Amino acid sequence: MKRALVTGVTGQDGAYLTRLLLAKGYEVYGAYRHSASGSFWRLHELGVLDDVKLEVLDLLEFTNILRLCQKVKPDEIYNLAAQSFVSHSFEQPVFTGDVNGLGVSRLLEAVRHVCPEARFYQASTSEMFGKVRETPQNEDTPFHPRSPYGVSKLYAHWATVNARESWGLHATSGILFNHESPLRGLQFVTRKITSTLARIALGEPVLLELGNVDAQRDWGFAGDFVEGMWRMLQQPQGGTYVLATGVTHSVRNFVETAAAALDLPLVWDGEGVSTTARHAKTGRTVLTIGAQLYRPAEVDHLLGDARRAADVLGWRPTVDFPELVTQLVRADFDRAKQGRILN
Ligand code: NAP
Ligand code: GDD
Repeated sequence: MKRALVTGVTGQDGAYLTRLLLAKGYEVYGAYRHSASGSFWRLHELGVLDDVKLEVLDLLEFTNILRLCQKVKPDEIYNLAAQSFVSHSFEQPVFTGDVNGLGVSRLLEAVRHVCPEARFYQASTSEMFGKVRETPQNEDTPFHPRSPYGVSKLYAHWATVNARESWGLHATSGILFNHESPLRGLQFVTRKITSTLARIALGEPVLLELGNVDAQRDWGFAGDFVEGMWRMLQQPQGGTYVLATGVTHSVRNFVETAAAALDLPLVWDGEGVSTTARHAKTGRTVLTIGAQLYRPAEVDHLLGDARRAADVLGWRPTVDFPELVTQLVRADFDRAKQGRILN
């Protein structure tokens, strides 16, 4: 039986990956940090909370990481733990760099000394492309991160490549474009939209306040993407792979698609911070823009080219944009009806 260590197990990807690995017969150790909410609702929703072996781990604490690697002696390590919210990284750049950047150095040092045969996956991100130099973006596209989050992840990406080249570790960097699900955190734009619109559709007096609705993202389904992570670690050597759907949409388009799925036809007015949207039938204002939600520097446009993953890993996304939006809308509508929007 293979043993996997999944850091960030309380997060969206941690839950889907845990379910996938358990289904493949792995013994799964899920690492979570003490200081946090300690919320295991995602693992619970996927029905795997009782099957994963939970262990405490904080990427800020080297001895903690070292002891856990010694205890688990994993065959595969998936490092999903991160301060993953881009907006927060502008407020907490040092903390973000410590967790997302130095945290990966700590983990790689532990792997190198305690379990050098373990295969290592680092959760890298399309945010590293930032102010994109070419479209679509692939493994050879130059990086230009636009946030402390992107900078921290770029450090971790190169730390992973360097561990492969210097120490011969089986270390892989998966550059994943945005992936969503009903288990996405509420602060991210997709679930912020679907959870708020669901409540509006049910007649609750709430307003959807957004920032830059013209930003474009290549949005896929988290369940597809964790399959890609696993496939990467089944390769004979470590490497770098992009996972993306190859289709991009604006935030505004996401709102329109979600509203349509809830039978809320919208009429848009204005541009930039003056943008509003109202319900076409009732005239009620549904959406406004909050200038404070704009980021100091934005990633305007992301579109991924996942041909290497298709050719080498045989990986392809199975959920397209309309299906993804519908999935989120349905889940949030059901939750809103029961008065239990979860984060
Ligand atoms: P997520 O839901 O925000 O999960 C992040 C996880 O990291 C949570 O379990 C969190 O624990 C944990 N964590 C935060 N700080 C930690 C620390 N100091 N020590 C240990 N654990 C810590 O993120 P996700 O969407 O699942 O993404 C998983 C990984 O992929 C992240 O590294 C993210 O940056 C990266 N990524 C995500 C996407 C995407 O679109 N989802 C795309 C590219 C890359 P708490 O529950 O305690 O906060
Ligand atoms: N969160 C949020 N909230 N974003 C908003 C809002 C809002 O009210 N209004 C507009 N946006 C825009 C953001 O400015 C950004 O351009 C886009 O919506 C997506 O924002 P997020 O959903 O927060 O995701 P992200 O693209 O910044 O980062 C996510 O994807 C990365 C991969 O590219 C995170 O999951 C990162 O951890 C991940 O690396």
